[in-house]
Amino acid sequence: MMLVDAFAGKRLLLGVTGGIAAYKAAELARLLIKAGIDVQVVMTESACRFIGAVTFQALTGNKVFTALWDADMANGMAHIGLSREADALLIAPASADFIAKIAHGLADDLLSTLCLARNCPLLIAPAMNLQMWENAATRRNLDILRQDGITVFGPDSGYQACGETGAGRMLEPENLLHRIQHFFQLEYLAGKRVLITAGPTFEAIDVVRGLTNRSSGKMGIAMAQAALAAGAQVTLICGPVGLPLPPVQKCIHVISADEMFAAVKAEVDNSDIFISVAAVADYRPAEYHSSKLKKTEAAMMLTLIPNPDILQYVASLPEPPFCVGFAAETEAVEQYAEEKRRRKKLPLIIANNAAEAIGADVSALVLLDEEGTHYLPQADKYAQARIIMAHIARLHETQKGKSA
Ligand code: C5P
Repeated sequence: MMLVDAFAGKRLLLGVTGGIAAYKAAELARLLIKAGIDVQVVMTESACRFIGAVTFQALTGNKVFTALWDADMANGMAHIGLSREADALLIAPASADFIAKIAHGLADDLLSTLCLARNCPLLIAPAMNLQMWENAATRRNLDILRQDGITVFGPDSGYQACGETGAGRMLEPENLLHRIQHFFQLEYLAGKRVLITAGPTFEAIDVVRGLTNRSSGKMGIAMAQAALAAGAQVTLICGPVGLPLPPVQKCIHVISADEMFAAVKAEVDNSDIFISVAAVADYRPAEYHSSKLKKTEAAMMLTLIPNPDILQYVASLPEPPFCVGFAAETEAVEQYAEEKRRRKKLPLIIANNAAEAIGADVSALVLLDEEGTHYLPQADKYAQARIIMAHIARLHETQKGKSA
């Protein structure tokens, strides 16, 4: 069966106006592309003074439009054609001047003409100095935009490039990305509580030493991001990772498998879906030494005892959440993963080749469930996570339908 990315095919027209926040629009374009959204950039003349069109062209892979008289559209009418091909038009940053223009229906350059000629929703992310933001004229213009059904994202408050502090900063690119994803109404997990474990665990031998593995946490973090983008309430239980974490509703940091187990037990009753991505250490030292072990010439024996299988515990609860496992194998990947899926009584397991996937940004995956086997070719882990999350949501709905 073919698994698809819910965002694939979504097209966003990104209008960039002249303000220092224009440089953040480049990061936004990068994040949108990474999230599977096709981005077409249109810049005003003053935006081009802050950042080059080539930057956006390189990030989006699309020609950047800057002039009303651009002859690249087949009919020479970029102001009509571009918005007809888009699902939404986002102006980020939207300067005070540009906001005034669209509030009053002015159309003296490509971007403002596009806003007037559009037949798709218009979203704006204002960015300006705090006095400009608080000026009565800007407030009036914003009221007009809201009355016209235009969506306003932000602004944020904080330190501004002019040295002042207050309201008017453009929302950060990650924040804008979430709002756009929500706007596209791909929140197929809205109202669902998703519990995710990520990263390795660290099993202490003494105060300074321990046993761990090479899991980076990238896949678990990507799954948390994808669950957030799908509108879920996400609790992330994370082993020791050195990566920035997404803005989940709740994040619990743990070190050992025992701590992860305790955190999962405390959270599992409040979850509809449990996704166990963590590479939980299978064993821990039988004994913990509270002072540093001294080095000697003799061989050292370490007795290891098994850790609890967290996923198996959750899947065996009388009323378990929808449980998803991950299996990293080095041989007979599908066969071993399917055996694990049956043994742990999981509706879905996702397997990969450990030697290739551990710590990497990309992976090739295979999903095994009651319907059979689905292959996801090598791709960025976040792109994979979005596809997997949509599949999980569908299987979860089907399971609920059956038990209803
Ligand atoms: O049996 P194996 O460790 O290969 O199973 C992998 C799956 O089980 C992963 O989803 C992992 O997060 C989970 N697991 C667990 N507790 C363990 C070991 C693995 O939850 N102690």
